[in-house]
Amino acid sequence: MTPEQVALVRSSFAKVVPIKETAADLFYTRLFELDPSLKPLFKGDMKEQGLKLMTMIGTAVGGLDRLDSIVPAVQALGRRHADYGVQDKHYDTVASALLWTLEQGLGAAFTPDVKSAWTSAYGVLAGTMKDAAAA
Ligand code: HEM
Repeated sequence: MTPEQVALVRSSFAKVVPIKETAADLFYTRLFELDPSLKPLFKGDMKEQGLKLMTMIGTAVGGLDRLDSIVPAVQALGRRHADYGVQDKHYDTVASALLWTLEQGLGAAFTPDVKSAWTSAYGVLAGTMKDAAAA
């Protein structure tokens, strides 16, 4: 990721933070529309789950320019996800739901550059998680 992409991801995420509960709701609704078979993997309270997801995205977004500082936590997250029953193919479905949610939340601010910056950021996280789960 270029420094410009890191900055775009951060500035756009900052706009989503004030509506994070709505964003989390939109995200899970979309995710389960795309793949209803994912529903049973989630056993906890969805509101709490949504807030955890947004907090983790926030941490990751904060660490994108110091990747070595977040890699161990992201690897551990990937290993936990394998235990939750998450498979590699599910990462693409989550990517679609996430990008769609950002588009809803950001409206016109979801420019092609913002989209490609988020696609790279998610790709880095998902790749690190999948590699750790497979290791
Ligand atoms: C960049 C990608 C992702 C991030 C940042 C992320 C983040 C998180 C976080 C922070 C948790 C809370 C529990 C923990 O820390 O272990 C969690 C749990 C979970 N995530 Fe993810 N996740 C990602 C991708 C996925 C994908 C692709 C799936 C597939 C459906 C998924 C399904 C789940 C499930 C099933 C749980 C456990 C829920 C429960 O116990 O009820 N996540 N995720």
